[in-house]
Amino acid sequence: MIVAIDGPSGVGKSTVARRLAQRLGIPYLETGAMYRVLAFEVLRQGVDPDDPKAVTEVFAGLDLRLEPHQDGRLEVLLNGEPLGDRIREPEVSEASSQVSVHPEVRRKMVTLQRALAQETGAVLEGRDIGTKVFPETPFKFFLEAPMDVRVERRFNQLQRAGQNSGSREEVLEEVTRRDLRDTTRADSPLTMDATYHHIETGDLDVDEVVEEIVRRIGEISQQH
Ligand code: DC
Repeated sequence: MIVAIDGPSGVGKSTVARRLAQRLGIPYLETGAMYRVLAFEVLRQGVDPDDPKAVTEVFAGLDLRLEPHQDGRLEVLLNGEPLGDRIREPEVSEASSQVSVHPEVRRKMVTLQRALAQETGAVLEGRDIGTKVFPETPFKFFLEAPMDVRVERRFNQLQRAGQNSGSREEVLEEVTRRDLRDTTRADSPLTMDATYHHIETGDLDVDEVVEEIVRRIGEISQQH
């Protein structure tokens, strides 16, 4: 079973995907973490995240692996080591959105994601899972929430990670900038088409979103 969860930053995809995967007893892959690890290494090497050639070279030399973590997640390892919350820093967030624009980067990421999830089934969370990575799965969900709710969720996530997240205004700027880039890039922009099941999460807590997805998976399964 492949479950695709797409949506913009701060909508709560990671938490929902993790709990859903636990409920379904399949692994969970946070594809954003893969772009974040690449961005982390790009910044560490002093490479310009907007330079496709230089970024592709960094990617080619990357030892990127995924290993099952005890919470059910497939954890992204760089040179055999987990990077933890270092990939959540604001500069890495921005750079991850920048490196994800490059078609060569996307092509390689999608190949890795397909190979990983196909064997076991998985809940995959990202921006292009239902449009590019597994367009054929009937279990496609697009999560949304009003901007103020997304900013609050992202702000709290950064605080929990013990990071200097800056003010809510700064978080709003970061999320707005990434939204614009992620939805307008030429290759696989974040988009929802009619094959998705749309879930407005603004008034729901995590458990309620998971319940709603489980309910709809049941309905979809009966139709197939
Ligand atoms: O989900 P996230 O905020 O951790 O993702 C970080 C960036 O990576 C996001 O701004 C765009 C990019 N991304 C992508 O282009 N495609 C994905 N499937 C996941 C993330």
